[in-house]
Amino acid sequence: MDPDKAETWDKIKKLREEKGYCYEDEVTLSKKTLGDKYEPLLETFYKEHIHENDEIRYVQDGSGYFDIRDKNDQWIRLEVTKGCMLIEPAGLYHRFSMDSKDYIKAGRFFIGVSVWTPHYRPQAETHPTRVAYLKSQQKQA
Ligand code: LAC
Ligand code: NI
Repeated sequence: MDPDKAETWDKIKKLREEKGYCYEDEVTLSKKTLGDKYEPLLETFYKEHIHENDEIRYVQDGSGYFDIRDKNDQWIRLEVTKGCMLIEPAGLYHRFSMDSKDYIKAGRFFIGVSVWTPHYRPQAETHPTRVAYLKSQQKQA
């Protein structure tokens, strides 16, 4: 979804209404702009985790990697670049890392409040959101 096209933002507006994304912000990650905050932040992003709501990211510029777990618990690496919209369902294990270009700017959309708590593995295994996610996957299969 090309961020330089006006129709993209119409689409995003519709998506927000349909999905109930009532809060959004924007983050720019790079060593230059974040300074001392960069390493600790990236460390938390790279620890495998889930959230209680969907994680929605729209890459407006730059690039990076999202890793998500497949059905057999193996990592799948997704390279995200300008224009990628990624929706990770609540309860899906994931992590994020930068690539060598070291720059990404992304919009974040939230359902309900903007409280954004990661639940890390292995403690998250018994989290109700994780349990519900696994159940929903079984049903689909
Ligand atoms: C987050 C991404 C990095 O939780 O997974 O913001
Ligand atoms: Ni996350």
